[in-house]
Amino acid sequence: MQVTISDAIRYIGVDDKDIDLFESQYVVPEGVSYNSYVILDEKIAVMDTVDARGMEGWEDKLLQTLNGAKPDYLIISHLEPDHAGSIGRMVELFPEVKLVASAKAIAMLPQFFEDRLDAQEKIAVKEGEELSLGTHTLVFYMAPMVHWPEVMVTYEKSEKVLFSADGFGKFGALSLTENEDWACEARRYYFNIVGKYGMPVQTLLKKAAGLDIETICPLHGPVLKENLGYYIGLYDTWSKYEPENKGVLVAYASIHGNTAKAAKKLADMLRAEGVEKVVVSDLAREDMAEVIEDAFRYDRMVLCAASYDGGVFPCMQDFLNHLQSKAYQKRTVGILENGSWAPCAARTMKTILSTMKDVTIVEPTVTIMSTMKESDYPAMEALVNAIK
Ligand code: FEO
Repeated sequence: MQVTISDAIRYIGVDDKDIDLFESQYVVPEGVSYNSYVILDEKIAVMDTVDARGMEGWEDKLLQTLNGAKPDYLIISHLEPDHAGSIGRMVELFPEVKLVASAKAIAMLPQFFEDRLDAQEKIAVKEGEELSLGTHTLVFYMAPMVHWPEVMVTYEKSEKVLFSADGFGKFGALSLTENEDWACEARRYYFNIVGKYGMPVQTLLKKAAGLDIETICPLHGPVLKENLGYYIGLYDTWSKYEPENKGVLVAYASIHGNTAKAAKKLADMLRAEGVEKVVVSDLAREDMAEVIEDAFRYDRMVLCAASYDGGVFPCMQDFLNHLQSKAYQKRTVGILENGSWAPCAARTMKTILSTMKDVTIVEPTVTIMSTMKESDYPAMEALVNAIK
């Protein structure tokens, strides 16, 4: 797919439409793009490489764009293999290319490449350091933990372009998602991949606020050129762990369908009370990453789960463990449990929730025994009133 940035700044990234699971964990029905760029000037810089899965297509684009010229620099923003996977090929093609990266990234290179890059000239850049290519000037800003410790972003001064590494990335091959809304898959990407690192993202946003940015070139997803305040605003909300919308996620973990019935009834009761938005998710069947996205998107959540083996049904445990590891916080949560002889799901859920910052559990906790009955409605109504 043709992506246009400018005469001098060219896109040489590739779409991966066949990948089954990104990072071996996220379903990506529309694939993913691995973005890489070339800046053509007196000196030529290549901005990151691509996953080994896309190496051939990337190499073709690289050689075509260079048109016989040799790149002077390979700028390495991030060493995760979805971007660094073709560095080995880059240095085979251009043994004289200088590797430009943070000191941390340079120190990490042998972990991935052993001694294969030992002979390569390397330039460890510091915060604010500049590299002139001619009319273009690169300025480097460290962005540790957005999403790995060695990450840096690069600002090109003359065209006001921010090469933002994983920041502002999105799932979806570019050729399959050209007209797609950005926020949905960018949000799922953000909370599942970068979500734990809200503070480092805030630090990066503060640095970005001091720059005059006209274009954002991320390592995944579309190049962003217009309405940049919208994207930056969403990143600000997300990285502060503030809810984006008012609403209630009702997430349920049901073995035989009885807890599901109670969850759906609760959702109807919430809707009847005029709650702005109610989203119901089956944790056993739906994409966990999507449910995590919704948990962060809305300000409230009701967890409905069956008891199981002295704890909670595993998909709920898995969900809560994921939320915990992604630093879920600043939200209000209601709980409904089901049990046939010794209900214990609520206790287990509360134990995990208690480890999270600023999570308020509303009362009452509702307990149903095997199936929801009319006699359960008053407690359910009380829960709805507490969280509506
Ligand atoms: Fe797209 Fe953290 O790699």
